Amino acid sequence: MSFDRSIKIAPSILSADFANLGAEIRAVEAQGADWIHVDPMDGHFVPNLTIGPNVVAAIRPHVKTFMDVHLMISPTDPYIGDFAKAGSDMITVHAEAGPHLHRSLQSVRGAGAKAGVALNMTTPLDHVADILDDIDMILIMTINPGFGGQKFTSAMVDKVARCRALVGDRPIHIQVDGGIDPTTAPLVAKAGADVLVAGSAVFRGGSVDAPEVYGENIRAIRDAAEGAL
Ligand code: DX5
Ligand code: ZN
Repeated sequence: MSFDRSIKIAPSILSADFANLGAEIRAVEAQGADWIHVDPMDGHFVPNLTIGPNVVAAIRPHVKTFMDVHLMISPTDPYIGDFAKAGSDMITVHAEAGPHLHRSLQSVRGAGAKAGVALNMTTPLDHVADILDDIDMILIMTINPGFGGQKFTSAMVDKVARCRALVGDRPIHIQVDGGIDPTTAPLVAKAGADVLVAGSAVFRGGSVDAPEVYGENIRAIRDAAEGAL
């Protein structure tokens, strides 16, 4: 199968109703989500605490698309096995979260998941340039990680474009995360991102009782992104 570089919308369940995660996931998938983005945070690498491997395992049966797990924890390595066992399809580790990024990526692939690398805004692309064969996705952060609802950082558009040039024809997804909405989606799509994470811009105004709003929100982001290609 050829590598899928079409635009994929990945709702971040950080903005969902945490008392209702299974139903929220089913609702956004029914409304057109391509991937489900999950944000474990440790209160140490980032100033917020969210979910651990048990919750990821609990939501797994509700995810019919692709479970994309963005680890914001340090150290990462001791937990990779648990998040893989919980059923993650992609495990993304932050380049800043440990001294041996390559070892972390080997652990992820060794545990049977796809391996992503997240780069904070001040972390240059050099961190991944020499290990592209060991990476399935590069996540260019467009905010400081930790919270949803922050403003997109437009200086990152050029970084996405440089990442696209670096990746070339390799089968590596380029993901963006933070402040993605119908206004910012075209900028990053044009620059070469194919996986757009969006939390507040997907869940805003909707609920499991009004899921069509999720559909409108997802469509607005997708249409804006595809319109820029
Ligand atoms: C923040 C998380 C994001 C967050 C994005 O650290 O990585 O996935 O949910 O939220 P929005 O789309 O609201 O910026
Ligand atoms: Zn995220």
